[in-house]
Amino acid sequence: MTKIYVWSIFTRLFHILLVLAVLIVFVIADFENLLSYHAVVGYMIGLLFVFRLIWGFMNVRYSRFKDFNFNIKDLLEYMLGIFGSKKEYTGHNPASSWAIIAMIVLGLASVVSGVIVYGTQEGMGVLSFLNISLFKDMDMFEDIHELFANAFMAVIFIHIAGVVIDKLLHKSKAVESMIDGYKNGDEKDSLKLTLWQKLFGVLWIGSSIFLLVYLLSTPSNILTSDNNRAVDYRVEHSLFYDECISCHTLYPPHLLPEKSWITMMDDLQNHFGDDASLDAIDTNSIKEYLVKNSAENSTREASFKILKSMDANITLAITEMPYWKKRHKEIDKSLFKQKNIGNISNCKACHKNIEQGLLNDKDIKIPQG
Ligand code: HEC
Ligand code: HEC
Repeated sequence: MTKIYVWSIFTRLFHILLVLAVLIVFVIADFENLLSYHAVVGYMIGLLFVFRLIWGFMNVRYSRFKDFNFNIKDLLEYMLGIFGSKKEYTGHNPASSWAIIAMIVLGLASVVSGVIVYGTQEGMGVLSFLNISLFKDMDMFEDIHELFANAFMAVIFIHIAGVVIDKLLHKSKAVESMIDGYKNGDEKDSLKLTLWQKLFGVLWIGSSIFLLVYLLSTPSNILTSDNNRAVDYRVEHSLFYDECISCHTLYPPHLLPEKSWITMMDDLQNHFGDDASLDAIDTNSIKEYLVKNSAENSTREASFKILKSMDANITLAITEMPYWKKRHKEIDKSLFKQKNIGNISNCKACHKNIEQGLLNDKDIKIPQG
């Protein structure tokens, strides 16, 4: 028995990049304003896996899928042997063979479904056009994405648990081999890469890192760019702009349902304790514009979710909508009174582009007091 080369530098770099990327993607998944980083790292995971898939069909010893052991009997034997004596495998053991396939499939499914959610829900990225046709299914796609991602995570935990048990009970060298590339074996079984395989490996790791750097440094790239159109309300309807921005934030019409706008516009005299009345022609013109662009006529996430969360009551304030309350319930009440915010209706303190009709997660920023 001598030390033989089993995992090429490319396999090992892939492994370490994947570990880091998956860690990051999961840790930041719940931070709305980090969504574009979540997407960037997600794309990188996708590319890493696509190359890994091709690598599995190349003639690379131990890494090629035909060297994987998918035999169910061997798998059971391996699992049962975990706490007893266990057969040593030079390449992937039956458990890791299954785990790797599951991780590739679930990882890619998570990435693809993530790109669909990014498009349908946020109107962002390469599938942003799907927002128009499929926005009504945004919640379903999100559920599917979470299902794949959680299943992916579950397999990762099982994989790690297996490695740890193997290490503790059998003093396995699997972890070390993933770092230095060597295992014990017969010299004739050592891994040798052809020139083409080495070139492919350089392309694999190089393009994955390049993709990451490129997406991070080029916000307007096709994969993560924001395709929500900023609205210039002053141009679209100058009367609405001038009248409705004079006392407070210019609330985008798509944040309230038609019924709310009609009720509000029919009683501008008693507008939240103020008299905001206008002559009949102007009132009607603004009302028409608001109705035409109300939540019912918008495909944006906020509109869809405001409508979905609504109860039978006609609410005139956006801040009284269940969806608004839900999304802001974790914000400390005292924060709204902070002097650079003032009151909860000062949306633009935290949503810098709201007066252009944009409410993207990445633009949400709570100002420091
Ligand atoms: C004379 C001042 C004034 C004018 C003009 C005015 N508003 Fe208001 N509006 C208020 C006050 C005061 C409130 C309640 C406190 C707040 O939200 O700032 C309010 C609240 C609102 C709210 C609820 C905000 C929330 O908290 O969810 C909406 C929506 C709204 N206004 C729409 C409009 C529209 C549309 C126009 C233009 C037709 C308009 N307002 C013009 C004074 C005004
Ligand atoms: C003190 C800061 C702050 C103020 C003021 C504020 N928001 Fe928010 N808003 C946030 C934060 C933070 C989130 C994200 C919460 C989360 O992570 O779910 C958010 C989320 C949202 C969302 C959901 C985002 C989406 O993509 O659907 C909407 C819609 C929204 N705010 C509208 C408003 C409106 C309208 C106002 C003004 C009436 C307002 N907000 C005032 C901080 C604020």
